[in-house]
Amino acid sequence: MAKGKSEQAPQQSHRVVTSGDLEVSTYLEIAKEISGEQPVAAEEAVSGAEREAIVVIDFGSQYSMLIARRVRECQVYCEIVPYDTPWEKIAPLNPRGFILSGGPASVNEAGAPLAPAFIYESHLPILGICYGMQVITKQLGGKVMSATKDEYGHAVLHLNDADSSLFVDFPTSSSVWMSHADRIEEMPPDFTALAYTENSPIAVMGNEQGMFGLQFHPEVAHTPEGKTILRNFVYQICGCQGNWTIGNFIDESITRIKEQVGEGKVINALSGGVDSSVVASIIHRAIGNQLTCIFVNNGLLRREEVERTFNVFRLNLGMNIIYADASERFLDCLKGVTDPEMKRKIIGEEFIHVFEEEARKIGTVNFLAQGTLYPDVIESASSGSKASAKIKSHHNVGGLPAKMTLNLLEPVRDLFKDEVRQVGLALGLPEEMVWRQPFPGPGLAIRIIGEVTREKLEILRGADWVVMNEIKKAKLYGQLWQSFAVLTDVKSVGVMGDDRTYGYLVAIRAVTSEDAMTADWARLPYDVLAQISNRIVNEVPGVNRVVYDITSKPPSTIEWE
Ligand code: XMP
Repeated sequence: MAKGKSEQAPQQSHRVVTSGDLEVSTYLEIAKEISGEQPVAAEEAVSGAEREAIVVIDFGSQYSMLIARRVRECQVYCEIVPYDTPWEKIAPLNPRGFILSGGPASVNEAGAPLAPAFIYESHLPILGICYGMQVITKQLGGKVMSATKDEYGHAVLHLNDADSSLFVDFPTSSSVWMSHADRIEEMPPDFTALAYTENSPIAVMGNEQGMFGLQFHPEVAHTPEGKTILRNFVYQICGCQGNWTIGNFIDESITRIKEQVGEGKVINALSGGVDSSVVASIIHRAIGNQLTCIFVNNGLLRREEVERTFNVFRLNLGMNIIYADASERFLDCLKGVTDPEMKRKIIGEEFIHVFEEEARKIGTVNFLAQGTLYPDVIESASSGSKASAKIKSHHNVGGLPAKMTLNLLEPVRDLFKDEVRQVGLALGLPEEMVWRQPFPGPGLAIRIIGEVTREKLEILRGADWVVMNEIKKAKLYGQLWQSFAVLTDVKSVGVMGDDRTYGYLVAIRAVTSEDAMTADWARLPYDVLAQISNRIVNEVPGVNRVVYDITSKPPSTIEWE
């Protein structure tokens, strides 16, 4: 996206925007830092000779990740690097072509980010998208006209040159999504206009050396044929082979884990979430019983959560699992605590203690497995230490034993979440686990307003069970980011049969979201809400009223605490 429609930074939240899995990893990283040990980064996963890549040069577009995902959907590996990344860091990726992303700047402004010279000197194909197109134009001797009027939304693209390799199997006219203000006034020498829209005479340009510019965004869903252009770029123009498949990833990954770990031992904190489950499965596939998973029951999990997770791994995958039932300890520590941040802090600390005690029993351990994902890698590359940025309140947690000089093993650090899910399915994990909605690390503790007690946990488990059950029955589970019950601290009067009741108020929360930074309350059908409400008041003792939360984030958060 180019100047005029500046790409807005997502709303910052005071919360930890992670899955439970990542939170666990973060506790461990912090613990290691505190014990004076710097986590050792995983070995560079990419071996240049084997894997071909398209490299996205990022000028700050909110769609850069989407570009990378679209390219990967074409079975070509794709990485995103900041626009000022030196060639030495890019060369090992074995680039076959570059995509210059959109961005919020205007190329005519002083200090606007430009592409490094090696991009052009490499003679590799280049595709500039929106701001990226303007960068190419500016740097190769054309002219970019500063904005007088924005062009935003749908436009119809007409081809001038249907024979261009960029347009194989592409319709002669199609809908594209525009979002720019600046536009190309004069193309660089040797470029020709390959397509136009009503307001953009040069909507696509290209030259004989395989450099192209698009004024629109091919990566967004609003450009329905956009993927064809990206596919043509990577196959027809860059000559990629398409070897980025889940099967290849698993094979390569298993070989790499075997090499990295050798005869060593690996521990993994299993949470039942998709990331830690996939990590455990792939490592287990590679090194079998050299892996031990530690599954801590903090007493704040949902109904049947322990049994289900345990059964999948112990029974189906035959893994070495240490099950630590520390429910009582956690609940004791939480006695009398009502402040949400304090709850988080206590749970984090206690987790480290339990994990540490269990890990000690295994003896010498060499690696700590983590479910770090590609978006975390990109984020931490730009914002320093992930650990210190993510959970500020956990700085006084105890360290792991000094003798545990652990290296990090991060087998999915190259993957997006949807790719992790595909790997999970390919490794035989149940759909239920692979498509699980995020569940926070502190669990039900932050869904009980006020003090966490055994009685309240039982009530919430009952209500949550009904919500999950009905949402799944209505086939809505997969469409919602999260759906759950909250046990409020409010009691109200009701009537059941001939008796007056005085029971708890349960709130239902169901949201849609892309990334948890923003969320909208889900427009659940009234019938589903009615069924949930009826069942909760009838089946869960102690509850006599149910309400539905109709606030979005912001200004609310997804969790109530
Ligand atoms: P909020 O409530 O901040 O939640 O809108 C955003 C996302 O983060 C999850 N969440 C947490 N996850 N530890 C976690 O691991 C936490 O302390 C925590 N707090 C919120 C929440 O479930 C939602 O997906």
